[in-house]
Amino acid sequence: PEATKIKIRDSVANRNKRVKVSGWVQNLRVQGKDMMFIDLRDGTGYLQCILTGKLCHTFDALTLTIESTVTLYGVISELPAGKTAPDNHELVADYWEVIHKAPGDKEAFGNKLNAEADPSVLLDQRHLVIRSKKQSAVLRVRAQLMKSFRDHFDSRGYTEVTPPCMVQTQVEGGSTLFTLDYYGEPAYLTQSSQLYLETCLPALGDVWCMAESYRAERSHTRRHLSEYTHLEAEMAFLDFNDLLDKIEDLICDTIDRVLAHEPTRRLVEELNPGFKAPSRPFKRMHYSEAIEYLKEHNIAKEDGTFYEFGEDIPEAPERAMTDQIGVPILLTHFPAEIKAFYMKRSKEDPRLTESVDVLMPNVGEIVGGSMRISDYDELMAAYKREELDPTPYYWYIDQRKYGSSEHAGYGLGVERLLAWLCNRYTVRECSLYPRFTGRCQP
Ligand code: 4AD
Ligand code: MG
Repeated sequence: PEATKIKIRDSVANRNKRVKVSGWVQNLRVQGKDMMFIDLRDGTGYLQCILTGKLCHTFDALTLTIESTVTLYGVISELPAGKTAPDNHELVADYWEVIHKAPGDKEAFGNKLNAEADPSVLLDQRHLVIRSKKQSAVLRVRAQLMKSFRDHFDSRGYTEVTPPCMVQTQVEGGSTLFTLDYYGEPAYLTQSSQLYLETCLPALGDVWCMAESYRAERSHTRRHLSEYTHLEAEMAFLDFNDLLDKIEDLICDTIDRVLAHEPTRRLVEELNPGFKAPSRPFKRMHYSEAIEYLKEHNIAKEDGTFYEFGEDIPEAPERAMTDQIGVPILLTHFPAEIKAFYMKRSKEDPRLTESVDVLMPNVGEIVGGSMRISDYDELMAAYKREELDPTPYYWYIDQRKYGSSEHAGYGLGVERLLAWLCNRYTVRECSLYPRFTGRCQP
């Protein structure tokens, strides 16, 4: 009889019909001479296939290896009581062929995928490791997360833009810039698309982008990458409280959208059992309150002294505080000295900026945002204070001449949000091919 060519994701709808399915051998179990199980993977799902009798006696059957590619023909039948398999059915094969045979080394391949292997081995072998159930699940959630961001901004009326990655201005300080030779002129890989997004406001209204950002971070931490996916948005005519509301809305609405997609909700549940979407409003806390919190809870520096007002709160104490509090925090009003040149000062206390970081349990900072300086003279003074040459920023400065406005924006690290959502130990598991100090391959 005829066979319908299907993808595994459609196997339930094609039960009791003769189908043709192609994919990779995820796993292989031989039971005696006359029975063999293939766990087939085709990128859309997993399907148990059973081969019996003559089908198991061929040379191909006797020498089949995991990660070989095969095509199977047969009927997808519900399992008898007592047997289990994905979707509670299996393909009862009546014919099959090998498309390509992988080197027959189950042990070697298994070791490459072994979660107990040294992390650097797993990173060297990442092109194979992404085939594993867990790693492919994270990448699948990532795809749905990116779609959900897009749907979120679409529903809120923002326009998506594509700023350049090769630039001649810095955004977040000179120490983490990657430099490149641009036809003999110095240039950088972008740290953030923020400044370009600001120029789009008078042209397009509220805008957003999702692009790679680059940071030459020397620190070997679980949450720093040299190349990461940066989701950024910029809005005009709003105040600081509006900004906080919009950040909350982004996170909560996007997570709701991810979980509303049933296959993704199941993957999140497998990766992060018991995950609950965060509820609004988030806890709001001033930077100065965080400094007090660290003292009250005895979270100190290595030398035993406490963090004082004006100091940057590094990753470890920030994590300790966030994990103790256990809910998302909007940490606001950082001192100007520890923040970027473009941030607007607080009206109540000019030592402070109208700035915000979102901190998530188990990850720490996932978002950084602020009101922007909208006044020309104030911006020029900021360049002076930071000892930055304003010349290459002429186009940015022009925004304060030709119709300035109160405006604000934020940037979110996609890998960090994903690490929180999928309960991954490090952002390295949340990037397809992570780049960090000492690693630029595969
Ligand atoms: O806090 P950051 O440096 O802020 C900016 O770049 C602003 N210009 C964004 C804006 O307002 N449009 O970076 C924003 C976020 C961080 O909160 C973090 O989640 C992520 O980007 N991030 C990194 N993620 C992975 N690896 C790194 N090295 C990262 N550096 C920042
Ligand atoms: Mg930051």
